[in-house]
Amino acid sequence: MKKIVVANWKMHPNTLQEAEDLFRVSTGAIVCPPSIYLEGLSKISSGAELGAQDIALSDSPLHSNLSSGGEPGQTGEVTGEQMVRLGVKYVIIGHSERRWKLGESAETVNRKLKLALTHNFTPIVCIGEKVRDENFKEFLKEQVAATFAGLSAGEISRCLIAYEPVWSISTTPGAKADTPDSAIESIGIISQILSSKLPYLYGGSVDSENVAGFISRPEFSGILVGGASLDKEEFSKILEIASNV
Ligand code: PGA
Repeated sequence: MKKIVVANWKMHPNTLQEAEDLFRVSTGAIVCPPSIYLEGLSKISSGAELGAQDIALSDSPLHSNLSSGGEPGQTGEVTGEQMVRLGVKYVIIGHSERRWKLGESAETVNRKLKLALTHNFTPIVCIGEKVRDENFKEFLKEQVAATFAGLSAGEISRCLIAYEPVWSISTTPGAKADTPDSAIESIGIISQILSSKLPYLYGGSVDSENVAGFISRPEFSGILVGGASLDKEEFSKILEIASNV
């Protein structure tokens, strides 16, 4: 089975030229660049697909989907409608940096997830505990329940689920990747609420050294890569390993 590789570029790079160069070596990946580069990259055929890092809570005022709870008019946001027109197929929903650094509530994440589905995007839904303490299993269960509240089994089956423990993400001080075994245990907890048949990805300090340990396991359908997706050589290695599993 072909493994899924998602590249989350976060706020990088600084120029369209660099973005194009990176995109060209990302064949086979789902690339989520800063929204400012979506249009430029949509004109390049590199064999990579385009994803967005986030979605506005509502569409433009003229087409506002109030049933999704969106309020028209949110300065600075990029709407699903705009991204559909650029050929975006995927949207990251509920990344921990949005949840914890930008104060995105579970309710907001849930509304964005529903809106992404109405636009027929494939949501890449991020789930993960902040700390691995004695309560982390409860934390995961609550986060999953709140994130997917009100969605039918059919809607949930259209999502990719990225297990990304916050403490393992390279932007967290002292971060280190989870082990495949303990990430599989967490996926087990998540899948008790959702379904074990969904595609689960692992994310958090994935690099060319540790990627095989994750994607060689049948429990993982793929990986979500942040920092390492910005280094052309390193990301090419990851893609090659993923394509040979
Ligand atoms: P990282 O980021 O691979 O740099 O840890 C992953 C993510 O935040 O999605």
